[in-house]
Amino acid sequence: MTHSKEAMQQTVTSERPDTQPHIPVFAPHIGVDTLKHLTDAFDVGWLGMGATTKDFEERIAAYLGLDNRFVVATNTGTSALHIALIAAGVGPGDEVIVPSFNYVADHQAIGYTGAHVVMCDIRDGDLGIDAAKAEELITPRTKALLPLHFSGIPCDQSGVYALAQKYGLRVIEDGCHAFGTTVAGRKIGSYGDVACFSFDPVKIITSIDGGCVIVNTIEEAQRLQRLRLLGVDKDTTERYKNSRAWEYDVVDQGFRYHLTNIMASVGVSQIKRVDEFIASRQAVCEQYSSAFAKLHGVSVLRLDYSDVSPFIYSLRVKDGRRGAFIEHLKRKNIAAGIHFMPVHKHSYFADCRRGDMSVTDAVSSEVVTLPLHSNMQAALVERVIDSVSEFFS
Ligand SMILES: Cc1ncc(COP(=O)(O)O)c(C=O)c1O
Repeated sequence: MTHSKEAMQQTVTSERPDTQPHIPVFAPHIGVDTLKHLTDAFDVGWLGMGATTKDFEERIAAYLGLDNRFVVATNTGTSALHIALIAAGVGPGDEVIVPSFNYVADHQAIGYTGAHVVMCDIRDGDLGIDAAKAEELITPRTKALLPLHFSGIPCDQSGVYALAQKYGLRVIEDGCHAFGTTVAGRKIGSYGDVACFSFDPVKIITSIDGGCVIVNTIEEAQRLQRLRLLGVDKDTTERYKNSRAWEYDVVDQGFRYHLTNIMASVGVSQIKRVDEFIASRQAVCEQYSSAFAKLHGVSVLRLDYSDVSPFIYSLRVKDGRRGAFIEHLKRKNIAAGIHFMPVHKHSYFADCRRGDMSVTDAVSSEVVTLPLHSNMQAALVERVIDSVSEFFS
């Protein structure tokens, strides 16, 4: 077999990775405003949990429109979930029902409490927990439901809360993807039972690492404050003034989960810009969806993102072509992610009780996460759209 020089050249050219700049799945949006907040926080000289932590909590409450609900900030979303479960009364031997199509933080947090993870399937439309299938998993040991608002899209809250009411269960909403998502005019976390959020490096707003829990009673909030600070009583009030209580009692098993002033200062800088970040992400998601909805071999989750605060943009690739699609994007120097590999497929969680996982198994073999950044450059959005369209045309 002979190869002409031109044919060889063509092969090499088409296989050579794109020389345009790499487009990552996530890109933090940290401006000079954040650097100013950080240096101001260092200048105060109180680096640990303090007045800026309180300021961040108050801004979260104001942003979400909390009315008689309470925010407790933590050092990660995972720790928020852990102490939220404890405050909700979950303990050793209890069962908590959670989607397998999820990040493993939820399952680990359940495990920390000594409770059993019970994994549930999702619905095909919003990719959130299937309440009818969850009902089949309820036993006398079931204590709580832990639904996720996948990618920022609200799950079937009415189905979840109807079940909770029928069986006397607590609900801990994982809102880690949905900070700012609105349902019937109210932000997720501003109503319902318990809600948790994450401010990790790639979330809609970041405090580098951080999270929070939102609860309905001051008693639960005070318990959370103790749980995040080694079970120490009354320390939070002093620390909010950038000082410490030298005489204190330890009244609970507690953890080292507080959010420092330094991290909170980043969070404060970010929450000031949250509307701008969300609006820019919504616009990109709508551009993506309107371009991809007409393609064959792929399906979009949503066309209208006006009420959704999109953490990621996810689409579903049909016909077993996901691997080839991701490779195609890679050649264009565009990264793609997978959210999620289902948790029941991980070896540590493989033996957990679970129900039918047919939707989870199908969806998790199709989902691809495309690059989505706050204030993403139009040229990058166009490159993603062109490259996706090229593959499916
Ligand atoms: C769905 C979900 N829940 C919980 C978490 C945990 O949050 P963190 O990374 O702040 O611990 C994440 C983080 O990616 C997440 O995606």
